[in-house]
Amino acid sequence: MLKRKDVLGLYDMSAEEIDEILTVGMSMKKLLKQNIKKLPHLQGKSVTTLFYENSTRTRSSFELAAKYMGAHVVNITAASSSVQKGETLVDTGKTLDAMKNDVIVIRHPMGGAPRLLARTVKAHVVNAGDGMNEHPSQALLDMLTMRENLGELKGLKVAILGDISHSRVAKSNLFGLTKMGAEVTMYAPRTLLPTGIERMGAKVCSSREEAVDGANVVMGLRIQLERQHAGNFPSLGEYARFYGVNEQIMKYAKPGALVMHPGPVNRGVELTSGLIDGATSRIEEQVLSGIAVRMAILFLLTKEEV
Ligand code: CP
Repeated sequence: MLKRKDVLGLYDMSAEEIDEILTVGMSMKKLLKQNIKKLPHLQGKSVTTLFYENSTRTRSSFELAAKYMGAHVVNITAASSSVQKGETLVDTGKTLDAMKNDVIVIRHPMGGAPRLLARTVKAHVVNAGDGMNEHPSQALLDMLTMRENLGELKGLKVAILGDISHSRVAKSNLFGLTKMGAEVTMYAPRTLLPTGIERMGAKVCSSREEAVDGANVVMGLRIQLERQHAGNFPSLGEYARFYGVNEQIMKYAKPGALVMHPGPVNRGVELTSGLIDGATSRIEEQVLSGIAVRMAILFLLTKEEV
């Protein structure tokens, strides 16, 4: 059982809590691999997904995770809700509370929106990605995939390459992986590196080769053009050539190093198609880990103390 009301980020989550989620998530993944999709863990509970930004993986995997454990699920997108009529986030949250929701899963373009919601509702709040801040369930599913394939996270070297400035995935992975004893290296165009990322625990490298050297895992990140207001690199072709992950760069990593990406991926830009579809790619496996880890989060938040 998690001794917290909400899951808002990994910055303030302990290594013990992360370990508990990953351990339960691994058990859930074993069940999913046996095609077991009818569990009683959330029977009688209600879960609402409240998405103010687009999503394929995160929203549908939270929905499936809740349904596989017997919950009632409601999906709300900002485009088709009373947000369009001017309703505030807090008032929307109060409405969902009045409906006796047990969990609200929220994605919002503003960093900090899930924390504001969590302060004002009785329901458990799970951050499904807030602006450029955090995406905790994505980092937890990434860590689950690494643990399943490579064993303990302690001592692993994980190289993260791409649009780090705009990436909530990079930040949550940095917080989570370093707490679990892994080393995180980063490489990106200077225009896509946030100031102070070293102080958060990352080793910022001066080349792709240095970042990937001896890595157990190489993670590409999507270029978030929707959050960029001016050109941060000359062209997508030049980005791929000078900053993308390709077969040549992977030669610097440990033999058999895993290739990961949170998705959605821009083929041929952040990663080559050969790597995306190759033997060391774990991108599809990350998707299944996503349902498993979200089952663990929903279960551990709502489980009652006996
Ligand atoms: N990785 C991720 O958050 O994907 P979606 O935007 O499809 O949810």
